[in-house]
Amino acid sequence: MLQCSEKAAAAEESRSMERCLYGPHRKHKTTVPEIRGRKGGVPLVCLTAYTTPMARLLDSHVDLLLVGDSLAMVIYGHSSTLSVTLETMIAHGGAVVRGAELSCVIVDMPFGTYQETPALAFRNAARVMAETGCAGVKLEGGAQMAETIAFLTARGIPVLGHIGLMPQSVHTAGGYRTQGRAPEDAARIMDDAKAVSDAGAFAVVIESTVEPVARRITDEVQVPTIGIGASPACDGQILVTEDLMGLFLDFTPRFVRRYAELGASVESAAEAYADDVRARRFPGPENLFGPKVPKAASA
Ligand code: KIV
Repeated sequence: MLQCSEKAAAAEESRSMERCLYGPHRKHKTTVPEIRGRKGGVPLVCLTAYTTPMARLLDSHVDLLLVGDSLAMVIYGHSSTLSVTLETMIAHGGAVVRGAELSCVIVDMPFGTYQETPALAFRNAARVMAETGCAGVKLEGGAQMAETIAFLTARGIPVLGHIGLMPQSVHTAGGYRTQGRAPEDAARIMDDAKAVSDAGAFAVVIESTVEPVARRITDEVQVPTIGIGASPACDGQILVTEDLMGLFLDFTPRFVRRYAELGASVESAAEAYADDVRARRFPGPENLFGPKVPKAASA
C-alpha cells in the first residue's frame, strides 16, 4: 500500500504532467480533434472571451475560449442574448482569435442565424469561420437541431452543441430555470444529448442541468460534455469570465464561483484617479513632457 506522502507525491507528479501537457507551457494550438479526444480525460478548461486583451490574458490557461453570445448582456447591457447580430459576433470573434495563440476559439451563432434551414446555417457559419479565423461554431438546440449539425459538420464546420438550459429560448421556456428535474424533462435532455452527439458535434455544453442527468449524459454520449451549472460529473467546465472575475455584477448565478473581485478594483482605481485629478496630484512630474534639453547643457 502506498503511504500518504507517496500518494500525495504521485498526485502532484500527475498534476505537473497535466500542466506540461495542457497548461501555459504547451507548445501548439489546441485543435478541435484534441478537444474531442479529451472525453473521460483531464477535465477541459473553458472560459468565455469577447476581446483581444482578455483573450491574451486567458489564452495559456484554458483549452477553449468561447466567444459567447452572452456578450449581448455582459458587454452591451441587453436583457437577454437574443439581441446580438452576426456582424457583432464576427467582430468579437476576430478580436478573440487575434489574442489566442494556444486555445481553441469557438464562436456562438446568434439567435435567428441558424434555426431556419441547414443551408442558411451553413452560409452564416461559413461567414463566421472565414471572417474570424475561429475553429468552429456553437449553436443551441438538441434533437430539433440534429439535421443542421449534421449538415454543417459534413461540410467542414466543427460544431459545439448546447443543451439543457438554452438562453436563446428564454421566452419559450418562460425564464432561466434549472433543467432535468422532472423525469420527462430528464429524458428529453438525454435524447437531445444523444442526437447532438450522433449528428457529429465534437462536444456539447450542458447548461443549468441537475447532476444525475449531466452524469448520465457524460457516461452515455461519445463526445465530451462541458458543464455550466451541470456538476463536476462533466468532462469539462465553462464559465462566463466576467462572472468569475467579479466584473459582471447585475446577478450571479449559483453555479458561479468568484475567483476575483475586479469590479471592486476598477471602482477604487476610478475613485483614486478622480481624487488625484481634482487635487491636481495627477499628472505628476513623471507624466510630463518637458522641453528638449540641449546636449551641451545636459553634459
Ligand atoms: O454565451 C455564452 O457565454 C455561453 C456559455 C455560458 C456556455 O453560451
